[in-house]
Amino acid sequence: MSMSLSVTLFPLPHSLSTQAPSFLSLKPRRRRYCFFPSRPHRPLLSPLRPNPPLAVAPPDGKSFPDPADDDPPEAPEDTEHGVSKFQQIHRQASRARRIQEDDFKKHQSTFLAAIADVEDAPEEDAADAPGDAGDDLFGEIDKAIALKRREFVKQGLLKPNSKKAKVNGEKLADAVEELEPEEVVDLEEIQELRGLQVASGDDADDGEDDGAREFDDEVSGNLGRSNGGSVSDSSFDLDFDTYGRTKARIVEPKFRITLAELLDESKVVPVSVYGNLEVEITGIQHDSRVVSSGDLFVCCVGRKTDGHLFLSEADKRGAVAVVASKEIDIEETLGCKALVIVEDTNAVLPALAASFYRQPSRHMAVIGIMGTYGKTTTSYLIKGMYEAMGLRTGMLSTVAYYVHGDNKLELPNTDPDAVLVQNLMAKMLNNGTEAIAMEASSHGLAMGRYNEVDFDIAVFTNLTCDNLDFHGTEEEYKAAEAKLFSRMVDPERHRKIVNIDDPNAPFFMAQGNPDVPVVTFAMENKNADVHPLKFELSLFETQVLVNTPNGILEISSGLLGRHNIYNILAAVAVGIAVGAPLEDIVRGIEEVDAVPGRFELIDEEQAFGVIVDYAHTPDALSRLLDSVREIGPSRIITVIGCVGESDRGKRPMMTKIATDKSEVTMLTSDNPKTEDPLDILDDMLAGVGWTMQDYLKHGENDYYPPLPNGHRLFLHDIRRVAVRAAVAMGEEGDVVVVAGKGHEAYQIEGDKKEFFDDREECREALQYVDELHQAGIDTSEFPWRLPESH
Ligand SMILES: Nc1ncnc2c1ncn2[C@@H]1O[C@H](COP(=O)(O)OP(=O)(O)O)[C@@H](O)[C@H]1O
Ligand SMILES: [Mg+2]
Repeated sequence: MSMSLSVTLFPLPHSLSTQAPSFLSLKPRRRRYCFFPSRPHRPLLSPLRPNPPLAVAPPDGKSFPDPADDDPPEAPEDTEHGVSKFQQIHRQASRARRIQEDDFKKHQSTFLAAIADVEDAPEEDAADAPGDAGDDLFGEIDKAIALKRREFVKQGLLKPNSKKAKVNGEKLADAVEELEPEEVVDLEEIQELRGLQVASGDDADDGEDDGAREFDDEVSGNLGRSNGGSVSDSSFDLDFDTYGRTKARIVEPKFRITLAELLDESKVVPVSVYGNLEVEITGIQHDSRVVSSGDLFVCCVGRKTDGHLFLSEADKRGAVAVVASKEIDIEETLGCKALVIVEDTNAVLPALAASFYRQPSRHMAVIGIMGTYGKTTTSYLIKGMYEAMGLRTGMLSTVAYYVHGDNKLELPNTDPDAVLVQNLMAKMLNNGTEAIAMEASSHGLAMGRYNEVDFDIAVFTNLTCDNLDFHGTEEEYKAAEAKLFSRMVDPERHRKIVNIDDPNAPFFMAQGNPDVPVVTFAMENKNADVHPLKFELSLFETQVLVNTPNGILEISSGLLGRHNIYNILAAVAVGIAVGAPLEDIVRGIEEVDAVPGRFELIDEEQAFGVIVDYAHTPDALSRLLDSVREIGPSRIITVIGCVGESDRGKRPMMTKIATDKSEVTMLTSDNPKTEDPLDILDDMLAGVGWTMQDYLKHGENDYYPPLPNGHRLFLHDIRRVAVRAAVAMGEEGDVVVVAGKGHEAYQIEGDKKEFFDDREECREALQYVDELHQAGIDTSEFPWRLPESH
């Protein structure tokens, strides 16, 4: 049942799916880095762990670069602070221009070839914007290409090409048709990519030929050809946003080992063994539902279930051996050839998994990020920085798994366990990954998920003990978190990166070996190795001048809010710890425009800010709203709901925080599950001392009844309505905050889980409001406006 308020709802959105290919600037956004960086400097992957050659690991799995190989860190061009804003912008612009020019020079042949056969547009069309061509998106693009072409012709880089009178889809298509792919796309790049696919193409089902064919298709597809060589009607489909990026076909490595070897290599000491230990294992599982033929089934004991109960299911699915901690009978089983009894199955699982997958983390630099907040964001920044150093960098985070570059892996439905972590790392290594930024959650640390991960660098972001859902006490929480830093024992190889504004910093620094070098960062504590000298927050970017032991960095980031300065500092500190060139640190961090669902700015060119954020706990919401307030909005309009079937206690707290810290709060639903959404809202209203009856009474004459503090409250159980009302209310200078879901694009109502993406909802609402305005409709009379705005 929904609250029936007579708010005029927007009609359901029409989809505006056409996205402008953003290659108007003809700037390749990102280049591929080759496997073996051609630059003389060899950035450190980990303090002293070099870039492992792709296929051949050093004999001991680790080796060290000659420090003489490294370039001395390059100071950024601007190491001064106190320069005027105008100068800063000017410098940034000229630096960006220079980078763009360099990029352009490198890729010049590609660009020129790509538009060599485009006809010159008639002078007047290209010079002045109006005209039929400008009526549609593709017309705009054609025009931009023509202008660019004219520029090249003027520079003498291309010959004039006006043999055809008019650029039209058909003729251009013919022109493109005549091109050989090699003429259009840099041959070297193709061969390099093909080489990559061949190198990784040991997948039995999908041989290298397929890979090469797939790639050919992709190239010709990009040139506007559809199947059979016919030409699509879009005049120019080469997408420079994705063109040239590392789109490798990710292969699944295959592993096999005998049970005897596995026990030997994992150093698991069995209590007893039965059957044939020479049986070959081709997989390892502890969830009977996903066992497949040839697997070793490990009977783990969970909070709710006991794997020992599922032996027969695992057997039916093809398990060939079992590891258990209780005497069980395998006589009756069909396929199980061997049984290994150990003291504690849960404890041996990570070691078995790591040995089965050949200890992948030993051959890559692994940066573990732990703490209450900022793990995902910091992982993205570190990945960006390592990629800027020319390293193929993977990422394991709550939001996404990357093999390297833009190659994403699907997130599994379940939390990753020790087996999956090792499996993913093996997949990464096998596909050329050299470093991994890895979110080490306290839950995962407590469960031993990362026990056999060979971390090189440990990063501590911050620690708050407000949400101890999983860990019963503060001590348990800290003990779990301490597990990462306690692995920092080798002063040569390991590094500790610590936020010393956090009172728990000394605790983490003291873990492991105290001789392991520490790089500290902080915003408040000026003794930190890495700290800001100056920063500026806005709704569009964050600018920060960072002091480091190696020089001062000037960073402009699309990550917004004060908390993101901490995340930037953490990434810089990692860069400093590994001796990254300062230029790469800056470039890599700046490359990360946004992290999905983390203070994510939704920009449809509206006059006010719209932010979607994952904050769904009182503490996170409070921090989020403080960060937004610091940006200096006229008003904050917050949409918030509370999840059903859990944590009733936090519902009133969420409302209290939202209404204290926002001028307008929209209470709504967020995965109510089987609970009645109105009951949840009732609980939430208690945060302002109201019942639903009170709200309805207050709301009789006013959609947004004022609270004692003068702030206003609106309530609607349909999230879409709440989001639209909030967005429609936005005026210049406001910030609308839609909190709770972040990157999680679903809503669970009853037992139905349906697609629902706050970011899409905001975009659609913004587009619709814009259309109303463009149609000359005065929305100020609409009921979603506050009385004072009328
Ligand atoms: N360094 C930080 N300090 C405090 N809060 C942060 C920090 N980084 C992010 N946050 C807040 O926590 C939320 C989750 O950020 P995220 O990077 O996903 O962290 P985690 O992976 O640790 O949950 C963000 O949306 C933001 O509100
Ligand atoms: Mg996370």
